[in-house]
Amino acid sequence: MSSAIAVRDLRKSYDGVEALRGISFEVTAGEVFGLLGPNGAGKTTAVEILEGYRNRDGGDASVLGYDPGDSPRAMRERIGVVLQHSEITPLLTVREAHLLFAGYYAKPRDVDEVLEVVGLMEKRDARVKTLSGGQKRRLDLGIALVGDPELVFLDEPTTGFDPAARRSAWEMILALRSLGKTILLTTHYLDEAQRLADRVAVIRAGRIIRLGTPAELIGDARSIEIRFLKNGEQVVIETKNPTQALNELTAEALATGYELEQLEVRRPTLEDVYLELVDEYDGDVE
Ligand SMILES: Nc1ncnc2c1ncn2[C@@H]1O[C@H](COP(=O)(O)OP(=O)(O)OP(=O)(O)O)[C@@H](O)[C@H]1O
Ligand SMILES: [Mg+2]
Repeated sequence: MSSAIAVRDLRKSYDGVEALRGISFEVTAGEVFGLLGPNGAGKTTAVEILEGYRNRDGGDASVLGYDPGDSPRAMRERIGVVLQHSEITPLLTVREAHLLFAGYYAKPRDVDEVLEVVGLMEKRDARVKTLSGGQKRRLDLGIALVGDPELVFLDEPTTGFDPAARRSAWEMILALRSLGKTILLTTHYLDEAQRLADRVAVIRAGRIIRLGTPAELIGDARSIEIRFLKNGEQVVIETKNPTQALNELTAEALATGYELEQLEVRRPTLEDVYLELVDEYDGDVE
């Protein structure tokens, strides 16, 4: 399988702040890869180096076979970008902004089709400056897609989205994936990463502390939790063998005639695992 992105020992400092302390990873063509990590971990720095927006201090990087440090036009034609903070010309209308960006690409998608996909058809003639926060983010997404890129960088693409808009963005990202596009995504929504990403890397203070599929990360983690109320008190049982534990619990409850109130069986989520991981590395920054 070919890699769309390959990064080895990537380093970047800003005036003595080491934002990236040597990170390495590969993103396979057709994969959704998630970069996770706390504020200031280095995600945007990494993404913007790969997009050709920032220079690196050290290490190797290859994006679709190009060195992003040269920011080659041929690479830019094949990628789409949602920046964490973008300033799209406020006086253009939504449709005009899409047309402007479509003009940079050799084979752009149909602008109205993109407006439909990102849910901005009704706002197509509104000026960009009049859009709400979530609508601006949809605009960013539309502009990233208008060039029909094969590799898409999405830096917190759904921040500020309402729950329904987030779900439709997820569907859109999965649809891109099913078209064989490669996606590098950052997000603070762990449910989003769990739903979308084939693999994730957790970055902490400029280093990758864990890399794998969400299932792998969750699999290594703690056991399944069984919770219920007993005489009004919360009981939590952690077990690697929930079938057995539940069987014993329910058998005893039935035999003695009491109800396992608010019975819940809960598998750890990526968020649980992430919080443990980041916590574990706290105080271990330098
Ligand atoms: N232009 C800059 N000048 C100086 N320091 C910077 C600059 N950009 C980023 N940094 C610093 O580099 C570190 C990594 O920042 P970065 O934006 O890559 O983090 P992030 O993981 O994207 O965080 P967030 O989740 O908040 O977006 C931070 O300590 C930040 O303060
Ligand atoms: Mg960021």
